[in-house]
Amino acid sequence: MKDDIVPQFSVIPTRRQFISNALQSAGIIFCAGSLAGLIQSCESNESPSGNSLNGTQIDFPLNTPGLEALSKVGGAAYKNVPNQNNDKDILIIRLTESSFLAVTSICSHQGCSVQPPDTEYSNIYCACHGAEFNPESGKVEKQPTTGSATSLASFPVKYNSVTNIITITF
Ligand code: FES
Repeated sequence: MKDDIVPQFSVIPTRRQFISNALQSAGIIFCAGSLAGLIQSCESNESPSGNSLNGTQIDFPLNTPGLEALSKVGGAAYKNVPNQNNDKDILIIRLTESSFLAVTSICSHQGCSVQPPDTEYSNIYCACHGAEFNPESGKVEKQPTTGSATSLASFPVKYNSVTNIITITF
């Protein structure tokens, strides 16, 4: 009966098994590394539109000259903030009594300056090639006549109704 015993496994791996096992281990390490990178990227400062933020927070009292239009819902104003948004204007829109959108004023298509919505419910508009962007998110609503645009880079805005100050994170 001794002859009927068949080994179920070999303790010493073949060369092929050794290489296969090594590659599988490397794959696990690579995936773990990728996962760590993914988690880290989720923790980095990123705006809702996906542009990276440097974390600088700046207060803007709404009674500042040039921002008066933001005192009413649907109002919009451009603001240049030195050393932020590549020294280009941002466009701020008051969406409700307590919420605001701040996006770059530079069109993602070919860099023209976008226009604020004409009315409370219309889109941000770029006259150069007709692209339109959602006034609540900066996402593309209508592509330009040629090529394509992406969401306008946006910056989180917090509003303090007591002080009437908005704080924008760049
Ligand atoms: S630059 Fe804005 S649509 Fe072309």
